[in-house]
Formats: sequence, structure tokens, C-alpha cells
Amino acid sequence: MTGELDQPLLLVDADRPLPADENPSAGSGDTLLEVDNLSVRFKRRGRDPFVAVDGVSFAVRPGEIVGIVGESGSGKSVTSMAIMGLLPRRSALITGAARYRGRDLIGRSDGELSSLRGRELAMVFQDPMSSLNPVLPIGLQVTEVLRRHQDITKAAARDEAEDLLRRCGIPDPGRRLREYPHQLSGGMRQRALIAIALACKPKLLICDEPTTALDVTIQAQVLELLGELVHDLGTAMIMITHDLGVVAGLCDSVNVMYSGKVVETAGRRELFAHPQHRYTEGLLSSIPRLDAPRGEPLRPIPGTPRDVVAWSKACAFAPRCRYADEECVRPDLQLIDSVRPDHPVRCVHPVDSADPGREGDDHD
Ligand SMILES: Nc1ncnc2c1ncn2[C@@H]1O[C@H](COP(=O)(O)OP(=O)(O)OP(=O)(O)O)[C@@H](O)[C@H]1O
Ligand SMILES: [Mg+2]
Repeated sequence: MTGELDQPLLLVDADRPLPADENPSAGSGDTLLEVDNLSVRFKRRGRDPFVAVDGVSFAVRPGEIVGIVGESGSGKSVTSMAIMGLLPRRSALITGAARYRGRDLIGRSDGELSSLRGRELAMVFQDPMSSLNPVLPIGLQVTEVLRRHQDITKAAARDEAEDLLRRCGIPDPGRRLREYPHQLSGGMRQRALIAIALACKPKLLICDEPTTALDVTIQAQVLELLGELVHDLGTAMIMITHDLGVVAGLCDSVNVMYSGKVVETAGRRELFAHPQHRYTEGLLSSIPRLDAPRGEPLRPIPGTPRDVVAWSKACAFAPRCRYADEECVRPDLQLIDSVRPDHPVRCVHPVDSADPGREGDDHD
């Protein structure tokens, strides 16, 4: 969890013009965001820095939904906060690049970043209560964003806010606009946050566990809504989750993170049909199946995640992996092509290393 990070209430300070060097048509081919060897270390008094994210690379194309999945503490939120420029500058040492439309976001000034946030990049956090301003009515929080980005009157912003809330599935939006966050249910608050994030039609939306605080039926509604909205607006999305069900229902491609590193990257269907990393394999086989024979025991992954520093040069999953041997602690373990096309994996003993020939049983 990232409770210790300083999160601003709203990521919408975008009244400044884009930096002069910002050319919206710039970019490498059709890539919207290219995260390249991104690492984040947190300074610790009297100790080596803590490596929270270690050499993460992935790309997001326009309109694509990219999943980042991994268990608690694997560095998912820190990765997204680094991209958005929201990590504390004094304690977080960031290296590598996060190129948005060809321009690196890392190391940019707060002014430059805030001119991109809201209009180009937006984020939905896990906990709607700590992301909404508790002392302002919902309406003001939505219209504030709209008026910062568009030259429109108060009345027009209010009409647009009402329309946005309606599109986000909030009944009686006129009344809800006058209410304060505590007067809304958890699901309504999360929808209001989504409305704020989408108000200016960002090109890239980062959702950090947006449904974890909600009950299962509301979760499904909010995910469906997000999927529809990003599809309608052509917005690309990074969906951060520890829930493979969310990935299965929404994402086009998936990055699996473990102890600060991406250990496997693949298209959604490919990942579910042919997981290669032993951690992903364990994750998938630990999901209870309705079609399993009665009495079949669940198969959890043994152990718990290790301190990242101790394993920074090796496979952090090795202590929990039944296939691990001395090869797994070699210092140059990289994310490399597996025997399967477009499916790199950071594993010495991937699932199909000995048996590349499992084809044709793709399923969703
Ligand atoms: N500001 C910070 N200072 C020091 N360490 C931090 C800071 N923020 C995060 N960390 C550490 O970095 C690691 C990765 O944290 P992160 O919040 O990215 O995990 P996560 O994958 O998002 O987990 P969760 O699923 O619980 O949200 C954790 O060990 C966390 O304690
Ligand atoms: Mg997190």
C-alpha cells in the first residue's frame, strides 16, 4: 500500500499551458507511453536505499489497456507514482525513463508535470475517500477540473459535470453534485473519482486498484464502466491490480510484477493460456475453480515475498519456487524472450522451457 506517499487530493492542476517543447504528435511510432528501465530506490537513514522498483520496462499504445499485476509490495503503485511524478523528490531516487509521446516525464519540474496531469494523464486511486476533498461538494470538484481545462462558464461546467456523473452511472446526478463525499456510498465515490479523472478526456488513465475498496457486485459495475468509458473516449489505461480476474476481464496485455521487477509480459489470452514464469503459474493455479473436483485442495504459493534488496540481482521468487536451483541466483537474470512469441519472461526454468509445443488451447 502507499499510504505513506504524499498524494495530492486532486491531480488536476492543469491551468498552465503545455511546455513549449511538448509536441503532442511526437512519439516513438504508435507508442503513447514507453517505460524504459525504470527504477525507484527510497533513501533509508543509515542503510542502503530500499529498491522498490527495479528496471521496469513496458509500453502502452493509444487505446490499449495494459495490466500490472502482482502481490502486495511488488512495486505496482510506486511504478505508477513515478510515472505521474508523485513520489517525494527528497527520498525517492528515480532512474530510467517514462516517455510520454516521446518526451521523458522523469525529472520534469512540478509545473511541467502538472500541466500534463488532468488534460493528458489522469489517475484513479484505490481509496476514493482519501482522493476526494471531504470539505467540497462533489459538483465543485468536477466543475473545477472542467473549468481549469476549458474556457467555459460556471453554468456550462455544471451541465457537463451532471452529464459526466450520469455517464458514470450515478443516479440523480443533479442532487449528487450538491452533496459532499461522505454522503455518497463507496461505489458512488469511486464513480465520482472516475468522472473527475475522465472529465478532460485524458489520453492515458492510470487506475491503481480502483475497485479494491468496493464490494464484488459494485466492483464488476465499476470495471465495466471503466472499460466502456475508455473505449468510447479512446483513452489508454494502465490497470494496476492484484486480482487476475480484473486482468482477465479488462486488459489487452499484462505485466506481472514480483519484488519490484516485471517477471513476465504477454497478451492477456497468451498469459492465461500459457503462463511462463513459475510465479504466474502459481498465481493462476491458486485461483479456486468451480469446475475442480469436489474436495480438491487449493494450491497456494508457499512462503511470502522476500526483502527486495537481498535478491536484487537474482530471481526474487527463487526461495518460494520448487524448480529453483543455483542458476536462479545468477546476477544477470534478465527479462528475455521465451520459447513463445511476444512473451518475454525473467525465469531460468520457465514452464515451456522443455516443452514448447503446447498450442491451440487458448481460453479467456
Ligand atoms: N514513500 C516510500 N518510502 C519508502 N518505501 C516505500 C514508499 N512507498 C512505497 N514504499 C515501499 O515500496 C514497496 C513497493 O510498494 P508499492 O506501494 O508500490 O506496492 P504495491 O505493489 O502497490 O502493493 P499493494 O498491492 O499493497 O498496493 C513496498 O515495500 C513499500 O513499503
Ligand atoms: Mg499499491
